[in-house]
Amino acid sequence: MSETIEALLEEGRRYPPPEEFTRNANLSDPAVYDRAEKDVEAFWEEWADRLDWFERWHTVLEWNPPYAKWFLGGKINACHNCVDRHAEGARADKVAIINEGEPGDVRTLTYSELRDEVARAANALKELGVGRGDIVCLYMPMIMELAVAMLACARIGAPHTVVFGGFSAESLKERINDTRAKAVITADGGWRRGKVVPLKRTIDEALAQCPSVSRVLVYRRIGDAAEFDAGQWVEGRDVWWHDIVPKQSTDCPCEPMDSEDMLYVLYTSGSTGHPKGIVHTTGGYLVGTSATFHWVFDHKEEDIYWCTADVGWVTGHSYVVYGPLAEGATVVMYEGAPDAPDKDRFWRIVERHKVSILYTAPTAIRTFMKWGDEFPARCDLSSLRLLGTVGEPINPEAWVWYRDHIGGERCPVVDTWWQTETGMILISPLPGITVCKPGSATRPLPGIGAAVCAEDGTVLEGPRGGYLALTQPWPAMLRGIFNDPDRYVEQYWSQFPGKYFTGDGVKRDEEGDLWLLGRVDDVMNVAGHRISTMEVESALVDHPAVAEAAVIGRSHDVKGQAIAAFVLLKSGYSGDHLPKELRAHVAKMIGPIARPDDLYICGDLPKTRSGKIMRRLLRDIAEGRALGDTTTLADPAVVASLRDQYEQTEA
Ligand code: PRX
Repeated sequence: MSETIEALLEEGRRYPPPEEFTRNANLSDPAVYDRAEKDVEAFWEEWADRLDWFERWHTVLEWNPPYAKWFLGGKINACHNCVDRHAEGARADKVAIINEGEPGDVRTLTYSELRDEVARAANALKELGVGRGDIVCLYMPMIMELAVAMLACARIGAPHTVVFGGFSAESLKERINDTRAKAVITADGGWRRGKVVPLKRTIDEALAQCPSVSRVLVYRRIGDAAEFDAGQWVEGRDVWWHDIVPKQSTDCPCEPMDSEDMLYVLYTSGSTGHPKGIVHTTGGYLVGTSATFHWVFDHKEEDIYWCTADVGWVTGHSYVVYGPLAEGATVVMYEGAPDAPDKDRFWRIVERHKVSILYTAPTAIRTFMKWGDEFPARCDLSSLRLLGTVGEPINPEAWVWYRDHIGGERCPVVDTWWQTETGMILISPLPGITVCKPGSATRPLPGIGAAVCAEDGTVLEGPRGGYLALTQPWPAMLRGIFNDPDRYVEQYWSQFPGKYFTGDGVKRDEEGDLWLLGRVDDVMNVAGHRISTMEVESALVDHPAVAEAAVIGRSHDVKGQAIAAFVLLKSGYSGDHLPKELRAHVAKMIGPIARPDDLYICGDLPKTRSGKIMRRLLRDIAEGRALGDTTTLADPAVVASLRDQYEQTEA
C-alpha cells in the first residue's frame, strides 16, 4: 500500500474542465457545494422535487443513527418515474434502451414501447401470483428484458433481487433462500464469447433446494440458435415469457409505494463467508441516483449513454437502470464480451450507436491498454464527450490512456467512488467544475460528508492518510442488511461510532483531494468484482481433500487484484490434479469470477502463536516481496519453506 501512496503523491498532472464543457454543464457553479452544506435537507429536497410523487413527503429526513429514513410520508413509484412519466410526456418516442446482443442483433425500445412492455410483464407477474411485497429473483443476461423485469417488479411493488449471471447454482440458492423469493425470472441462456451461458440449467440446479419459489418465468434468448442443454421444463412451475407476457393488457397502474418501501435487495461480499443482502428503498434511492446521474454524467437530452457494467452489480442497478431512466436518458445495454468477435467490440459499439457518455471499469481500461492502441484507433469515437470509471482505484497511466486514446484528449474523465451500500456515487469530480487529477476521485459530491479517520476514529484534517468514513446520511444509503440487523450495526457503525465505515483506505492531498487506496478489510477487488477471502476459503474447505485454506488478494497489473490460495490438505490426500480440481471447485461453489489465479498446496500455514493466519506474510510471498516482520510467528520455518515453494513454481 505504501508504494501505491508514494506513486500517487508524485502524480502532478492536472486537467481543468474544458471551457466549452463548463459553459454547458448541468452544474458549473462551485457555489453548489456551499449551498448543499448550509442546508443539506433543503438541498436534497430540491432534487426530490424533480421526481413525480403521488403524495409529497412531510419530513425530509429522520436520522436515528444508524437508521435513516428519507422523504417520510412520500408516496412514489420507481417505475412511474423511470418510464411512465416520460412515455406520457415529450419523451414518448425517444429511445429508452438500445440493446446490442453479442451476436450483433440490435433491439430498441422507445419510452412508450417500454411502458407497454413493462406493464405487460407486470400483469404477467400478477398472473403468476406475484404481488406487492413478494420478492422476485432475477437471473438474466444483459438483455433489455432484464431492465423490463426490474421495472415490472417495481411497478407492482415486488422487490427484486438480481443475481449476476456469472454466479453458480450454490450462490443462487443461498441468495434465493435468504430472501425467500417467490418467483424467478430468467432466460434459457445468454451469449458470452460465442458460447451459451446456461442460465436456466443453473436455475434448475439451484431450485432443487429452494422451496419458496413456485414460478419461473423464462425468456427465450437462445432458442434453437444453438445445441445446448436448456435444463428441464417443470410443468406448473416454468412458463415461457413469450407465452404469457405478450398477451397481457397494457393496463397496469403503478402501485403507490411508501418512500421507504424496499425497492430491491442486492447481495455483496463482506468479510465473512456469507454475502450480505443490501437493502435499498424507493424515494431516497431514486433521488440520489437521478441527481448524481444528472450532475456527474452531465446528462443532456441528446446524449447516448453507455454504462458497461452488468446489471447484476450495483453499478447496473443505479447507473444502467434507475438513475438514467429516471432522467429520461437513452441507455445502451450490451450483452457480451469486449473481445467478441474482436478486441474492438466496445469501440464498434460506441461508433455504431454514437455513444456520447461512457462509464466503465479500470480493469477494462487496463485490458484495452494491453490489447493495444490500434483497436480504438480503428473506430470513430468522436461522439464521446465524457468518460467515467468506477469499481476500483484507477492508476494514473490507465486514466491518462483512457483520456487520450478513448476520449481524444478532449473528454473530462470522472473517477467515481461508491459502493453497493451507498447506492449512489458519493465521491467524484463534477465535470464542469472540478480540476481532475489522474488517480483521484477528488471530492465528496455536494451534500455528502466524508472524513479521513485514524484507527481510533479520530478525524484527521489536512493532508493525511487513513480510513474513509461517511459522516452524515445520504438519500440512497442502504437501509440495512436483509434479515441481519446486528450485522448492519457491527459491520458499518461499530468501527467509528456515529460514522459509516467504508472499509476503504484513503489519502487526502495538500489540495484536499481524496485518493482512494482500496479495501483495508478481508474483501478483495478482482477485476472490479467484490469477493471476500472468507467466501473463497469456505468454498475450498468444502472440498473433501482440504483441511485448511488461507486466501489473499495479490496485486495484479490488469485485474487490480488476483486471488491466491494457500491450501493445507487432509492426510491421505495428494496429487498433481488437485490444484486444478480445487480451483474448479471454487468456481462451482461461487462462480467463475472467484476461481483462484494461484493455488499453492503447502505443508503448513504461517500462524501467530495464538493460531491466527498471517495473511500479510502470504501476500508478501505471493507478490515476491521481502518478507515483513516474522517475529510473531509460531514457526518461522513455515514461511521460508512456502517462499521456496513459491519461487520454484514461478521458475
Ligand atoms: O474499495 C472500493 C471500490 O469498490 C468497493 C465497492 O465495491 P462494490 O460494492 O462492488 O461497488 C462497486 C461499484 C460502485 C469500494 O469499497 N471502489 C469503487 N469505486 C472506486 C473504488 N475504489 C477506488 N476508486 C473508485 N472510484
